[in-house]
Amino acid sequence: MHSPNSGMQFVPGKIVRNEAHGEIFYRLEVSVPAPMEFVPGQFAMVSGWPGNDPLLPRPLALFHSRSVPKGKHTVEFVYKVVGRGTALLSGMHPGEPLAMTMPLGRGFDLGKGGRMYWLVGGGVGFSSVFPAAAALAWKKADFEIFLGSRTRRHLPPKELTPVGPAPGLVHLCTEDGTAGYFGRVTDAVRERIKSLTIASASRLTILACGPREMLKDLAQAAEACGAQMQAALENHMACGFGVCWGCVVALRDGEGTAHRRVCKEGPVFDAREVVW
Ligand SMILES: Cc1cc2nc3c(=O)[nH]c(=O)nc-3n(C[C@H](O)[C@H](O)[C@H](O)COP(=O)(O)OP(=O)(O)OC[C@H]3O[C@@H](n4cnc5c(N)ncnc54)[C@H](O)[C@@H]3O)c2cc1C
Ligand code: FES
Repeated sequence: MHSPNSGMQFVPGKIVRNEAHGEIFYRLEVSVPAPMEFVPGQFAMVSGWPGNDPLLPRPLALFHSRSVPKGKHTVEFVYKVVGRGTALLSGMHPGEPLAMTMPLGRGFDLGKGGRMYWLVGGGVGFSSVFPAAAALAWKKADFEIFLGSRTRRHLPPKELTPVGPAPGLVHLCTEDGTAGYFGRVTDAVRERIKSLTIASASRLTILACGPREMLKDLAQAAEACGAQMQAALENHMACGFGVCWGCVVALRDGEGTAHRRVCKEGPVFDAREVVW
């Protein structure tokens, strides 16, 4: 997978905005001293909430970065509150300092021409795949987006979607049928795969981030039809840069398995290599 930025840095930032979007998501924009380039799928370890509980920073996918010549440089994250760290983050205000180490890990490999990409985001997993969509749109590549959530209110708000309303580009899926396809995003993808010829399935690369069960199901579907798949894993992390081995995943290695660090060798892996 891809990582031109080997130079991770500790970056002190200042919050520009930290606003609720839709019912469960927050968009956090932070000013940083210098432009921050990143590969879609790379992430930052973020901390800065008051007090030292939780002590460890939390990993968040780099969602967007902006640079104005002689002006402000910013990075953005999108997150969902699931526990203490993200709850404290959601209570922080513009002007407050934030500590980030970034860019970290290996992102999606979007290098191959002539491929057809399906980007699949389950829950807040869209925060890793939307930057890939923006990069593919810029390259005028052939891609579609599948977004899955339990219910309509948990789909990403429209203003966060990096592509316009082109028909057939974004497929919404809800488990309760309140928007788009009635069912799981994995079922929607499997149904679409059935309509592909062998030639077009062999041109397909799935880029996915979301719950592990979703990734496992997609990996099986991709393998069965001869498509490629890159999966962005979201394991718990402690250090975020390869030192503690607290984030390992088992990968196939010949006849056996080998352990790799999600923060260093990932978070994006070839789905065929992962021991699901
Ligand atoms: C590379 C990477 C990129 C990520 N990008 C984003 C992002 O862009 N936006 C976003 O909202 N989240 C993202 N996450 C997940 C995010 O890091 C966790 O939600 C966060 O660390 C939770 O911290 P907390 O203190 O709020 O919750 P905790 O108190 O640590 O945990 C609360 C509950 O959530 C569960 N939990 C915590 N972390 C995870 C996890 N990684 N997977 C499954 N369950 C978990 C815990 O088991 C617990 O039940 C990413 C994770 C990784 C590894
Ligand atoms: S989180 Fe420490 S090695 Fe990955």
